[in-house]
Amino acid sequence: MNKLNNLANITRKDFPLFSSQRDVVSNLIYLDHAATSQKPIQVIKKLSNYYKYENANVHRGAHQLSAKATEEFEQARKITSEFINAKSSKEIIFTRNATEAINLVAYSWGNSELKEDDEIILSLMEHHSNLVPWQLLAKRKGCKLRYIGITDEGLLDFDDFCNQINDRTKLVSLLHISNTLGTCNPIQKISKIAHDYGALVLLDACQSLAHQSIDIDSLNIDFLAGSSHKICGPTGCGFLWAHENILESMPPFLGGGEMIQDVSLFESSWSDLPFKFEAGTPAIGEAIGMGAAINYLQSIGLNNIQMHEREMTKYLFNQLQDVKGINILGPSPEKQENRAALATFYVKNIHSNDIAELLDSKNICIRSGHHCCQPLHKYYKLTSSARVSLSFTSTTDEIDLFVEELKSAINFLKSNS
Ligand code: ALA
Repeated sequence: MNKLNNLANITRKDFPLFSSQRDVVSNLIYLDHAATSQKPIQVIKKLSNYYKYENANVHRGAHQLSAKATEEFEQARKITSEFINAKSSKEIIFTRNATEAINLVAYSWGNSELKEDDEIILSLMEHHSNLVPWQLLAKRKGCKLRYIGITDEGLLDFDDFCNQINDRTKLVSLLHISNTLGTCNPIQKISKIAHDYGALVLLDACQSLAHQSIDIDSLNIDFLAGSSHKICGPTGCGFLWAHENILESMPPFLGGGEMIQDVSLFESSWSDLPFKFEAGTPAIGEAIGMGAAINYLQSIGLNNIQMHEREMTKYLFNQLQDVKGINILGPSPEKQENRAALATFYVKNIHSNDIAELLDSKNICIRSGHHCCQPLHKYYKLTSSARVSLSFTSTTDEIDLFVEELKSAINFLKSNS
């Protein structure tokens, strides 16, 4: 048996979709882990257990069921805070997703702290979720957006960042790992320089949290946005982390129940952290499920996950060398060892949707489109690309089958064009 597959052989048993007893879809090869992760049975059971036996609203009732739900919900917050090495659970704000976490910062911190001519630095490789909220803020406040370019190798152009940062820069908001290029950005180096200019740093960690261990202290950042569904947890839940003093200084984002201390007809006062930012009934079961997902990832070990995915990435890139006519975006694993376990590619004169559909007819799931990165695709003069993305459950057999079917799909499409 191929030793490269050791971790996948162990962990695949936890995923109903990959287990041999499945009766829903047979022989499915899921290579779209960057769009959303599959959920292990440990998470599904925790979620189902909450809805079956612990369902109650949190922080409200005097009864035992509410107390149990509250305990589980707050335990999930603690798990999340320890996962990224936050100082306190108070620094974790549960949101609907990472997009909402970034919007929270743009509206609350951005509206109150930024003024005309202040600058925000983003990069050309950002996901729309880390672009559009800042465009809206820039329009509201008259701020300027600057974009860090990309090198020929698909890396963040660090020299360009150094040239663009200046005394007007108030925020540098970057993804950790690009969902399209796979590039892993040098956040520590960026934070150091940003802080020297008095700017804060927001990290969109959606594509890194399930793939390497994250320590907010060593990254030296100020905000972090994360998403549950990308880390083996349920959809509908994400989180924002920020330093307690920054969160204390920020006004509420959404108003309503749960986030208040005292309400009168014309004025209200706010609850303490983290509740000040959690208006309305939260996604209780989903947050508890996210806690179970984090426990699950930690039981495998983030370092083991990273090692497996590195080997799989090398294997994938090696096999893709044999596929005639494909162009891969982003750095090769030789150029950047800690790049993500994904490959985004295009074939001249063939639409990526046609490739994805032909692969789907062979039960292989990959993503095609602009991957919520239209500016990046415009930079490369593309309207779409195809993306294969891996996880700790991925095997060399899956990659072999994918590559074989990709070759057939391209041959077929070329001969019929
Ligand atoms: N951002 C997600 C992706 O990369 C949806 O596919």
